[in-house]
Amino acid sequence: MTRRRVSRGCGKLILFGEHSVVYGVPALVASLPMGATAWVRESSENMLILRDGRDDTIHFRTSPDDSGTPVERSASALFSAFTSDACHEVEVTLDIPIGAGLGSSAAFATAAARALSDFIPGSPSPDPRVLEAVEASEAIFHGDASGIDARAAMGKGVFRFVRDQEEEPRAIATKRSIYIAVCEAGPPCQTSVMVERVRALHKRQPQVGESLNRLVGDIVFQAQRAFEDGDTQMLGELADVNHGALVAMGVSTPELDHACHLARAAGARGAKLTGSGGGGCCFAIAERDSIANVMEVWDRHGLRPLQTVL
Ligand code: MEV
Repeated sequence: MTRRRVSRGCGKLILFGEHSVVYGVPALVASLPMGATAWVRESSENMLILRDGRDDTIHFRTSPDDSGTPVERSASALFSAFTSDACHEVEVTLDIPIGAGLGSSAAFATAAARALSDFIPGSPSPDPRVLEAVEASEAIFHGDASGIDARAAMGKGVFRFVRDQEEEPRAIATKRSIYIAVCEAGPPCQTSVMVERVRALHKRQPQVGESLNRLVGDIVFQAQRAFEDGDTQMLGELADVNHGALVAMGVSTPELDHACHLARAAGARGAKLTGSGGGGCCFAIAERDSIANVMEVWDRHGLRPLQTVL
């Protein structure tokens, strides 16, 4: 039986604007070089296998089922987007932490959908079913998802994202490389739970919710200019303020706050949680000569850091 290496889906780092993006505020996001790789082959039944490539363990081995677990329903959405006479086994390996704010669900769905599209004869190129399938899968995992993870999983570099915007986002360039360290500050948390928590705050305190969203909109506006200029000092300061807004929204944790403090004390220009919060990852912006200090202190605290350059 032929086995083909097929496709990649990127992880993502929301630099500025998570949660507020659900309410139409722009966000600044980076597609990561890390993410998911999918292989596909013909099989006697449709089957999805999700492997954690960092410790080489199988997380899920599941058949599509519309009434089952989120992963089973996601598998169903993916397979039903690509009708075929044959059945397929899709195996996806992730090289980013699962459920930790780096877009693992969108990366896995993108890699799987691209793999199916590529493997099934007669698929158009580009194939609009890929994004549709990923968005359907994301709605299962994230509830009222803005679509930011699905876009980033396609691999766009750094871009500004606005919910429900028709046109393709365009990559934004920077004059200087920006050094980023990311760590796993706490255990994974479900995005839909944190999105609901913020929605409840908006319901209880509509004006406070709106003020926080306006503040985040201002941060994103300034951050885009700072990114274009390669101004790490400004980016770091804005990251700290955005983290404060996320604390006010109720989505940070003592572990995330502590990891940000550790990074700042190790010389980072600034740090914030990334993604839905409630656990998961945070990142720090540092100069080239201090990024190793941040990585070292997080490593010493067992926070499994990784580094990237934007
Ligand atoms: C999750 O990666 C980002 C959130 O803003 C939710 C979303 O935009 O769908 C928390």
